[in-house]
This record gives sequence, structure tokens and C-alpha cells, in this order.
Amino acid sequence: MTSPDPVAPAGAVVVLPGSFDPFTLGHLDLARRAAAIAGRVVVAVSHNPSKRGLLDLDTRCGVIAEAIDADGLGGSVEVRPLPAGLLVDFCREIGARAVVRGLRNQVDLSYEEPMARMNAHLAGVDTMFLLSSPALAHISSSLVREVAGLGGAVDDMLPSASARALRAALAEREHRA
Ligand code: PNS
Repeated sequence: MTSPDPVAPAGAVVVLPGSFDPFTLGHLDLARRAAAIAGRVVVAVSHNPSKRGLLDLDTRCGVIAEAIDADGLGGSVEVRPLPAGLLVDFCREIGARAVVRGLRNQVDLSYEEPMARMNAHLAGVDTMFLLSSPALAHISSSLVREVAGLGGAVDDMLPSASARALRAALAEREHRA
């Protein structure tokens, strides 16, 4: 008996882009699930100067590398800064077959749909949407930043490297104020 043909060849690359400020357990879950589908996942961290951020790009990349390692995903998931320019150009450069994004709700879908359609139009790059795991669907980086900034508990929504970096950044901000 022959084994079934794989849908995607082993080693297919997908890109999980975002600002990851901070990288949450929801993001880690997406990376883990994408890696189970594709051979290799590149977490692409955007500079995103337009967003009011907390962690700088180097810190975010370091945190993600540590979280990936701690989760045992180092063999299939890697982190890279997203160069300035179009995401589809980065996809082409690294030979990625698709973009992966998470969806928690309809609001996410409204935000994602135009970008996915544009990326498909520009370069034929498809977007694979993964529904967020129900236990993590309340987590967003912006809310984590807000809650943490107001003194709320966020550690159970973050990989430990992220929680540490967030605490350090908030302490630094308080020190400067
Ligand atoms: O986590 P975010 O901040 O919602 O991620 C947004 C991201 C990085 C996916 C988006 O800003 C992006 O794709 N930036 C790269 C620039 C680009 O290609 N823009 C056109 C997209 S249609």
C-alpha cells in the first residue's frame, strides 16, 4: 500500500508576520500549529514605527527566539526582523509559500481580509488563517500592554521571556517618567 501524497512538500516555508509587542501565548500557539502544517515557519517581526510600541525590535526578536527555544520549536520555527518594504517581497526572498495569521473574531477578519487580498493580488501570496485556540482568544498584545501598564497581571498570557522583557520595559518607562 502506498502512503498518501503530502499536500505540501516537506520543508514548505510559511511566514508568520506581526509586530509581536509583546509576543504572547496566542502567537506561540500559532507558531506551533503552523509548524505542524508547514515544514518551516519564519516569524517575521515588523519594525512598525506607526504603532505606539513598548519593546524595541531587537528585544522582540530576542524574546521570540527564547520562547521558541523554550517550547522546543527551534527545529522548525525561526525568527527574523521583517525588512522595510512589502511583506510579499520578503516572502519571495525566502521562498515562502504563504503567510499565516491568527483570527480571534470578526474584527480580526475585517482587518486581515484587505491585507490578504492585497498580498494575493501583488504576488499570488496566499494567507492561511488559523482560528485562535479558544483558551487564548482573549489575548491581544495591545490589551496586554494596557493591562500591564495599569498594574494588572499578564504573566499567564505570555511566554516567560516576554513577561520578563515587558516588566523591564515598564520599569524603565517608570524610571524615565
Ligand atoms: O501584528 P500586526 O501589527 O497587525 O502586523 C501587521 C503586518 C506586519 C502583518 C503588516 O503591517 C504588514 O504586512 N507589513 C508589511 C508591509 C506591507 O507589506 N504592507 C502591505 C500589506 S497589504
